[in-house]
Amino acid sequence: MNVVALVGSLREESFNLQLVQTMAERYQSLFELTVADIASLPYFTESLEANPPESVVRLQQQIKSADAVVIATPEYNWSIPGVLKNALDWLSRGERVMNGKPVLPVGVSPFMMGTIRAQKHLRDILDSPGIAAKTLVPGGNEILITFARDKFDSTNRLVDEATLTFIDQVMTRFLALAKS
Ligand SMILES: Cc1cc2nc3c(=O)[nH]c(=O)nc-3n(C[C@H](O)[C@H](O)[C@H](O)COP(=O)(O)O)c2cc1C
Repeated sequence: MNVVALVGSLREESFNLQLVQTMAERYQSLFELTVADIASLPYFTESLEANPPESVVRLQQQIKSADAVVIATPEYNWSIPGVLKNALDWLSRGERVMNGKPVLPVGVSPFMMGTIRAQKHLRDILDSPGIAAKTLVPGGNEILITFARDKFDSTNRLVDEATLTFIDQVMTRFLALAKS
């Protein structure tokens, strides 16, 4: 399986990126996980749509050929970061490559709310007609990682066993959804 990750933080030491890297290693026997480049996308404008830049075409093709997508979002001011919204706006246009795509939202925060507000916004966006992604029902399937500084080690990997066990359970259900 080929899974593409959109990571909403461009920070080098991003916990959200660390989560995706942990997943890439942990589930390497199940799928190949590639992080897409969303930093080089221009700001979305309808003026560029007729002749989209190479970075946009590349991302759209990458998502089109993916079996599933993981979206790792930090919470910025109770919502998703602009860089991620920009990528989703681009992906909502043209061929609408997100339509029906299995998507697993995940998020990490150093604080106590674990990106819950950002993920609620993200789920609304994923339900919009331009995206219309396929997701697991939220109940019991929300990967909301709190207090990140206690759960990642010095090699930048998630090491909290209870959290990893929960992610394993959600991933099993997500892969079943993706294959259905
Ligand atoms: C502009 C900005 C806004 C933020 N807003 C929130 C917020 O609303 N809720 C929250 O829990 N953390 C907030 N944070 C803290 C982020 O959760 C924290 O920086 C986190 O580590 C970002 O994710 P990353 O580690 O993947 O870069 C904010 C951080 C920034 C830079």
